[in-house]
Amino acid sequence: MIGRTMSARTINFTLNGEAVSTTIEPHRNLVELLQRFDLFGARESCGQGLCGCCTVLVDGKAVSGCLYFAVWVDGKSVTTVEHFDGHGTLSNVQQAFIECGAFQCGFCTPGFVMMAHQLLKENSDPSEDDIRHYFSGNLCRCAAYPEIVEAVRRAAKAT
Ligand code: FES
Ligand code: FES
Repeated sequence: MIGRTMSARTINFTLNGEAVSTTIEPHRNLVELLQRFDLFGARESCGQGLCGCCTVLVDGKAVSGCLYFAVWVDGKSVTTVEHFDGHGTLSNVQQAFIECGAFQCGFCTPGFVMMAHQLLKENSDPSEDDIRHYFSGNLCRCAAYPEIVEAVRRAAKAT
């Protein structure tokens, strides 16, 4: 309807293990919601579900934060990349990314780290083909793909 404004909704959800509540307009996406909590690991890049930079877990499943409406997390559990070093200790995956130099500018890295954690949960010993297939929705403009594959293999051995 012309001139009609969308009213904000109050949502309650779990964010990296902590119960939170906020009010947000229904057209905002999950990346925008996370920024309100000072979480900037999930980045909006393509805004079309094509690059994986905005990957976040909702109830344990990877979603594109750029395409996921913020209000949809009401009653759900959200995990971001910040969860993995929330206690000052890097995860095996994060450590392996550093040791293998699996990034250059780092813009894509949080998305790859999220997906790597998911992959290793499903497959503790992925082959190179498994890794490349699993990451088919994640783009790295710096083309750090060989090092990313190496990092996931290293993290698998350390897990
Ligand atoms: S910014 Fe969401 S998939 Fe690219
Ligand atoms: S490290 Fe630059 S986009 Fe992947």
